[in-house]
Order: sequence, then C-alpha cells, then structure tokens
Amino acid sequence: MQLFIFRQVLKNKQACDKIIVYILHFFRRMIYLEKFIVKGKGELKGSVRISGSKNAALPILCATILCGEEVILEDVPELKDVEILCEVLRGLGVEVVHKEKNVYVINAKEITNTVTGEELMSKMRASFCVMGPLLSRMGHTANALPGGCAIGTRPIDLHIKGFKALGAEVIISHGMVEASAKKLIGDDIYLDFPSVGATQNIMMAAVLAEGETTIENAAMEPEVVDLSNFLNKMGAEIRGAGTSTIKIKGVKKLHGCRHQIIPDRIEAGTFMILAAATGGEILIENVISNHMRPVIAKLKECGVTIFDNGDTINVISHGKVKAFDIKTLPYPGMPTDMQAQFMALATLAEGTSVVIETVFENRFMHADELKRMGANINIDNKTAIVQGVQKLRPAKVKATDLRAGAALIIAALTVDGETEISDVYHIDRGYENVIEKFRKLGADIKRVNV
Ligand code: EPZ
Repeated sequence: MQLFIFRQVLKNKQACDKIIVYILHFFRRMIYLEKFIVKGKGELKGSVRISGSKNAALPILCATILCGEEVILEDVPELKDVEILCEVLRGLGVEVVHKEKNVYVINAKEITNTVTGEELMSKMRASFCVMGPLLSRMGHTANALPGGCAIGTRPIDLHIKGFKALGAEVIISHGMVEASAKKLIGDDIYLDFPSVGATQNIMMAAVLAEGETTIENAAMEPEVVDLSNFLNKMGAEIRGAGTSTIKIKGVKKLHGCRHQIIPDRIEAGTFMILAAATGGEILIENVISNHMRPVIAKLKECGVTIFDNGDTINVISHGKVKAFDIKTLPYPGMPTDMQAQFMALATLAEGTSVVIETVFENRFMHADELKRMGANINIDNKTAIVQGVQKLRPAKVKATDLRAGAALIIAALTVDGETEISDVYHIDRGYENVIEKFRKLGADIKRVNV
C-alpha cells in the first residue's frame, strides 16, 4: 500500500517538490541542533589570527555585480553568511568560484535574473545589498523584504530614500520591494541615521549614475571604507568614505580587480575581551588597531594591559577588571557589535557597570542567558545595570544572535564546570573556525550534535 501511495506521490511533481523541501529543512534543522560544551580552565594563553571581516566581505561580494569582468577576493572569511550570499549571487547568474580557502573568484559577466525571493532573503538580510548594484547595472531589482531579526525591526526606509533620490521608482507590495529606473541621476541624499547598509547600498547604486551623488550623514565604519576602496579599484570615483560626507562621481563602466578584505575588528575585539575575562595573555594577529580605538580605550580604562603594535595587539589581564560604562554609537563610537561581549565582561567586574545600547532596539537578549549563569543584570529600556559577581555558574544557555553567542562563550570560559550553549548556528554565521581558534588558546570547548 505504502509503495502504491509513494508511486502516486512521485508522479505528482508538486508533492514531490514539497517532500524534498521538507527533507532539506529537516537536515538543516539537524545542523541547528548542534551545541557547544564549554569548560572554564582558568587563564588562556597563545595567539589568534583574525579572519577577514564578515561585514566588509558581504557588501563587497554584492559589489561584484557591478562589472562584467573577473574579480578576485582574498581573505574572505569561510562563513555561513558568505555561503548564503554566494548562493544569492549564483541565483542572479553570477559565476562564483570558491577557488581556495578564503579566496573567491567572481565574474558577473552576465546577469540573468534581478529578483531574489524570500527563501534566500530570509536566511540573511545583508543580501539586501544586492539591490543597489542591480539597480545600477541592470536598471531593475526586486527583493523579498528583509525580515527583522532578533535584535530589531531592521527597517530599509533609508535604502529606499536613496534609490528614489537617484530617480528609481520603488514599489513595495506582497512582501517584495522592487526598484527600477531607465537611468539613475546623481543627487544629494541626507541619511536620518548613519546606516551602514544604506550608505553601502546607495554608494553602489550611485557609482554608474549620471553626475555626482553626495551622501550626507553617511556611516563612517571601516567596512564602508573597504567597500569604497574596492569600488575605486574597479574604476569608481568615490571620495570621503570614512567621513560623514561621501561624494560619488558616476562613471560609465567598471572593471575587474583583486582585493584583500580588511581584518574583522569585531572578531578581534571579541578575543581581546576574552583575555580580559579569563585572565592570561593573548596575542591578536592580523588586526588594524586603528579600527579598534573604543575597545582598546575601554579595556585599558578597566585595568587590562594592552600593547598596541598596529597590526598585532597583545592583551594581558589578571582576570578581574574594574567596572566600566559603555554606550554604543555609530563609528567611531563603541560598536554595538561589541556590546554583548562587554556585558559578559561586566558580569565579573569589580563594582557596577552601565551598558547603554543606542543603535538597535532589542539587543539585550543575552542578558537573560547571562542571568541563568548567575549574572546580576537589571534592564531598564536601553540601559543595563550590571552588578559584578565573584563567579558565574555553569548553565544551559542559548545563543540569541551571533554576538550574544560569542559573549556566552566568553562567560562560559570563566566558569568552573560545564556550560552548554545551544543554537550555535548563530555563532558560525560570524566567526570562522570558532572552535579551533578558542582551543588553540587552551580553551576547553567542543561542538556536539544533540
Ligand atoms: C550593519 O548592519 C552590520 N551588518 C551589523 O552587524 C551592525 O550591527 C550594524 O551595521 C551597525 O553597525 C552588516 O554589515 C552585514 P544599520 P546594518 O543599517 O547595515 C536603523 C553583526 O553582528 N536603520 O547601520 O543593517 C536600524 O533600525 C551585525 O555582525 C533605519 O532606521 O545596520 C538600526 O537601528 C549585526 N533605516 C540602525 O539604523 C534603514 O533604512 C543601524 O542599522 C536602515 C537602518
């Protein structure tokens, strides 16, 4: 009987597709059921080489759409988010070859599709940055609206404001946002908030527009500068990246190039805070310390010894830091992506620390997980008051976003006993070879399937 039903189902293509999607979903869930088991073992010592920046690599991968020639990208981190974006690019007709570890060869000689559906968009919102390049090169782009995520609603109004200012018609309907324009004309665009993604998307939309575009109140993050440097290597004419006013003079055509992604300042900061929390000595290699000013200053303030050698940073700590206050701000302020890690450090500091999150509206979910480990944290809207405790205790906790996951690893490595961290797929999105890097420093951490 079952055979008969199965044969009937196989004849029905639609039913067959549904079964395949379900099976894929099931296996994907299996990956999501992985956990980290972490045992604190006191001070950590050793060196860690920082990977290329996820948040620089993603927009630069999108920017390869802008030219029909070969682009070679080096120091691209091997991350889930990069894999997903490569899937999106292939869906547009872009040739993407993962040539060797951390090296991708991309050729967008032919764009055969300008639409990215919900299935891919829902996996990673940064895919939204394909819109600017597609609008620029093809005059059309349609994307599923990027959902919000755990840390906030993540609106796209500033991206759309920029596209419209350049002359695009933008229609939002049935969960899709579509932008089209026969020709883009440069204009002045003021960003109500220095949005990183909007600055990058508008830059990429403007590089082939007619005339000059000025972005006022632009994001100044190093990842915006790296994108601008990449685009200028392709023949764009962009000035002012890294300041709040960026000028883009439209050019006729862009060409291929080779580019090395900048080191990941957030990964570097994560390992610096790890050394501060567990005590010991960690040498951070392959870093641009100029991108780390707020993190270096804050750790020095709370008593950590730091030797800044420009492209390496040596961090020495006795494991107990003084309480501190941080307030997240757009660059060059304290990065919001460092907030969770600093909160983990604050749970063990001597005294009471204050953590204020001003960039995202819901980025304190790690507080509940840290409280399961015995942390003393009180949240009042955008402010967390963290009363340092002597020790945290082992617990079963959950990563709620990628930086929260990193914060939980830091906390767990200070604890005598075994802590279990679930939903670790979040961590794999942003930290390359995460287990190997921690273990190389002497950490007792392993990945297990449940
Ligand atoms: C980038 O996200 C990073 N992601 C984030 O890193 C980072 O936290 C964020 O910049 C801030 O530095 C990537 O680069 C892939 P935004 P993005 O647009 O571009 C509001 C990580 O952990 N806003 O600067 O999405 C928005 O609501 C991730 O690696 C609007 O109001 O950030 C938020 O409150 C997390 N309208 C604020 O700006 C818009 O149109 C910052 O968002 C766009 C944004």
